[in-house]
Amino acid sequence: LNFNVKKERRYILQVLFNGLRRLEYRGYDSAGIAIDSDNNSSSSSENSVASSPPLVFRREGNIESLVKSVYHEVAETDLNLEESFSIHAGIAHTRWATHGEPAPRNSHPQSSDDGNEFLVVHNGVITNYEVLKETLVRHGFTFESETDTEVIPKLAKFVFDKATEGGDRTVTFSQVVLEVMRHLEGAYALIFKSRHYPNELIACKRGSPLVLGVKELTEDASNGSLFHDDKFVSKNGNPKELFLSSDANALVEHTKKVLVIEDGEVVHLKDGGVSILKFDNDKGKHGNSFARPASVQRALSVLMMEVEQINKGKYEHYMQKEIHEQPESLKTTMRGRLIRGGSSKAKTVLLGGLKDHLKTIRRSRRIVFIGCGTSYNAALAARPILEELSGIPVTMEIASDLLDRQGPIYREDTAVFVSQSGETADTLLALEYALENGALCVGITNTVGSAIARHTHCGVHINAGCEIGVASTKAYTSQIVVMAMLALAIGGDTLSNQARREAIIDGLFDLPNTVREALKLDQEMKDLAKLLIAEQSLLVFGRGYNYATALEGALKVKEVALMHSEGILAGEMKHGPLALVDENLPIVVIATRDACFSKQQSVIQQLHARKGRLIVMCSKGDAAAVCAGGSGRVIEVPQVEDCLQPVINIIPLQLLAYHLTVLRGFNVDQPRNLAKSVTTQ
Ligand code: G6P
Repeated sequence: LNFNVKKERRYILQVLFNGLRRLEYRGYDSAGIAIDSDNNSSSSSENSVASSPPLVFRREGNIESLVKSVYHEVAETDLNLEESFSIHAGIAHTRWATHGEPAPRNSHPQSSDDGNEFLVVHNGVITNYEVLKETLVRHGFTFESETDTEVIPKLAKFVFDKATEGGDRTVTFSQVVLEVMRHLEGAYALIFKSRHYPNELIACKRGSPLVLGVKELTEDASNGSLFHDDKFVSKNGNPKELFLSSDANALVEHTKKVLVIEDGEVVHLKDGGVSILKFDNDKGKHGNSFARPASVQRALSVLMMEVEQINKGKYEHYMQKEIHEQPESLKTTMRGRLIRGGSSKAKTVLLGGLKDHLKTIRRSRRIVFIGCGTSYNAALAARPILEELSGIPVTMEIASDLLDRQGPIYREDTAVFVSQSGETADTLLALEYALENGALCVGITNTVGSAIARHTHCGVHINAGCEIGVASTKAYTSQIVVMAMLALAIGGDTLSNQARREAIIDGLFDLPNTVREALKLDQEMKDLAKLLIAEQSLLVFGRGYNYATALEGALKVKEVALMHSEGILAGEMKHGPLALVDENLPIVVIATRDACFSKQQSVIQQLHARKGRLIVMCSKGDAAAVCAGGSGRVIEVPQVEDCLQPVINIIPLQLLAYHLTVLRGFNVDQPRNLAKSVTTQ
């Protein structure tokens, strides 16, 4: 942060720690922070002698262990919390380990040397770090971490030392960073801090997300602020705090005025001002690596997010809050998009982000759904209705698998990218691949301004509100609803399918209430969780619309309750899974009313015949129909239109996973080894 009215170190730490807490869902195995050691705001100049080295703290474990060590162990002795600064540049990081185990030496900020001449926090992966490391080692650098990131500050020092060899101190911080960027391959969002450039920060990105927030410290000139002639211009030149983050979540409590930084842009914060330069990789190739790059002018945008959305409110965990929020999140997803009544009494769907492309989509030879994790499962749940209403073949691709196979994508394809965060690295790379192959690319994301939202030709925001729990819940149900609306929008409005379309639209209107009904199963699922608490494994059988429910239910149990769980296509039962069935292994069978109901009834019979320990999910009133000839537990859920049933059926399974996790004593919101946005490959 960077301001011109005095602020105490205590405040600076608080802002950085709170920012990290907001980002913790992205990674939580270690954390670090770098702040200035003394008040050096008077020496702000690139020509000045290096200031005192920044203070760096790095700890293994979550953010609270970093906070604790900074305040309790270090603050009492070394840190003056009351010291004030009129300009201060601090950086902080929470890590999800890619290269090197969680340990202080592998935490960020990574440093160029013992004197912390250059410090870097990094989100992403540098793919050519080994080559860079070899070169730097040859030039006398020693490395202390196993991270890919450590080459970056060391490269910055190398560039700086070279540029200033003869005593020439004119090289600017941004020139150093631009030169470093020229050598980096891979994905990154980086923030640099240097004792050679006190009160300055440089941020840059390629592939990984980065957002700038601007907060005027006194009453302001709301909109209309522009970046102009290399300088941030505000109407009255108020002092300001400037924020850089991987996610707008960390900024929203300070400001709603943001700028989403584009790939190749270099953001220079200096003396309370911002300039943005565009990195041009060709410059260096022509022998003049310090050529002046073009400056960028862009207007700030205003975040449509409220702080309350990112608080837990009355709930104990984000996952719990997000499960119970689904009646509201679904309403928001559908708001303004469903039309019923009016003079024509027509029932229809309006998806503004697609309207100019619907004709092209209808003409496509194939629709390909591409996503990872829960987003993939949501697309799978929507596949049957899209096939039914559009008549176009729909194929499914897990993003990484598509890339591994370099599977064929054609100009005549519509590729639909489904991603809550809009930043998942595999999905983004698959998008790049589909764009290269000429497909029409549609984005379905929950994050306005995300890379997928920006780089697809058109799309739909799911508007589910911020999702913070690592295990996706409300985004899943909103994604299904958006894709059901997509099916209605693409599918022809013919007389023969009119009744079906209207039934789906009516079902969508009623869905928030039906979900509220399904949430009443909370206590029942808690009781079931108590019974299952010590199990090693849980199978979930589903088919048709609810094959996806089986996969997603099992994924929830696996990822948060840390219990082995597998979603199984019931049609495949006889081809392997049946061998696992005995009187001990708990099996959830989804057998709600739809075209597959009788097939599921016979699956239940066959499982009973092998003394399977069954928990059957059925439509309200069907308990007897599904239990004939056997015992076992029944979960009765409200019945809705078949293609919307996955939205209802996942609710008890989300609740079950939640309660199992709490009862087993695991961290619901931050499951072991996982992160919410996987922005590395
Ligand atoms: C991670 C998260 C999952 C999520 C998946 C895809 O694995 O832990 O909850 O479903 O990424 O994320 P996306 O943001 O693309 O939907």
